[in-house]
Amino acid sequence: MKVLHVAGARPNFMKIAPLVAAFEAEGVAAPICHTGQHYDERMSRLFFEELGIPRPSVNLGVGSGTHAAQTAAVMERFEPVVLEKRPDLVLVVGDVNSTLACALVAVKLGVPVAHVEAGLRSFDRRMPEEINRMATDAVSDLLYCSEPSGRRNLLAEGASPERVQLVGNVMIDTLLRHRDRAAATGARGRLVGTDRYAVVTLHRPANVDDRGIAEGLVEALAEIAPHFDALLFPLHPRTCAALDRHGLTTRLRSIDGMRLLKPLGYLEFLDIMAGAALVLTDSGGIQEETTVLGVPCLTLRPNTERPVTVDEGTNRVVGTAPADVVAAVQEVLRDPPNGRVPDLWDGRAAQRIVEHVRSGAIDAIAQLREGERSRAPTPTPDWKDERE
Ligand code: UD1
Repeated sequence: MKVLHVAGARPNFMKIAPLVAAFEAEGVAAPICHTGQHYDERMSRLFFEELGIPRPSVNLGVGSGTHAAQTAAVMERFEPVVLEKRPDLVLVVGDVNSTLACALVAVKLGVPVAHVEAGLRSFDRRMPEEINRMATDAVSDLLYCSEPSGRRNLLAEGASPERVQLVGNVMIDTLLRHRDRAAATGARGRLVGTDRYAVVTLHRPANVDDRGIAEGLVEALAEIAPHFDALLFPLHPRTCAALDRHGLTTRLRSIDGMRLLKPLGYLEFLDIMAGAALVLTDSGGIQEETTVLGVPCLTLRPNTERPVTVDEGTNRVVGTAPADVVAAVQEVLRDPPNGRVPDLWDGRAAQRIVEHVRSGAIDAIAQLREGERSRAPTPTPDWKDERE
């Protein structure tokens, strides 16, 4: 059996790492196709090295572009790869443009597709990731969910229950596997040197590309800074460029205790996050990681597609209004949330997926498709309606 793994952008790499390892441990070939959506050393290669992910057998080298240009470039370059490699299954993770592009190509070539992290919904179509999630799930054959809301959403949208499996969170597999190595980096001592610090990450276009919102968030950070000895803010390339464009970099730098950093590697960032008094973020994955680490998290967005992190974990969705952010920080410092780790976030999610795939899931899906075709309704001819 051959399972072709797709990875394109930074958050994909920690998700494929345990899957590739678990498939290979069972003797299943697990080649990787890197689309090249993220290409900087610190956004890509560093993660492969740190997490011991095998070298991709193909790199499509698509780089940056508009949504249409990037998605189209991935599709055009991925098609010959699938034709040449003839995988039994194409496995895509998460919700980036590469995820959707490769799922579409595979399904149209008649190759079954598995989507890992299926069913998450923010119900906010202004987010490009929401479109990627909905469209990827609509064409995928095997839908592996990380939390119960994923399963609920898919069933409500009409997915057949046979396709949907609640397996847990592969990104948490990686976190649990590398936690000790993260602590051994000593990043906390080297980059922080105090226990009373907060970590900030922002990269959503809705937050950083919009000058008004970006400025409000910078002012909110200035107001909360006195509560901490340091605010650590590793800057995503999009954020760095947007802040410069808006003329906000100098103001941000002038905040007392603010430490602007280059994007960090996986291990250093994990160590810093684990020791933080508070994390403020608009990332999806960080909401999940802080829940497992038991670190309070404030999500600077109007919604989340990961509600289990709020219902059971340490996450609170606070939006982007500066007064709301400041009030939420004060409240969390007064009364830190007590969370629990969601069911199945136990380091064995990848293993569950591999077991399911190896236990005949691909054949079962082929039969399901056959059944769906035979049950397709026969259209009533127009003349018959008129006669009746
Ligand atoms: C992408 C994903 C987003 C994910 C994020 C994680 C989509 C639609 N978005 O957003 O879901 O949360 O990755 O980081 O797929 N750039 C570099 N070097 C790189 C990569 C990007 O400088 O290695 C710069 C380029 O200027 C590029 C910009 O960052 O135009 C944005 O990159 P892009 O891949 O389009 O989207 P992200 O914002 O990274």
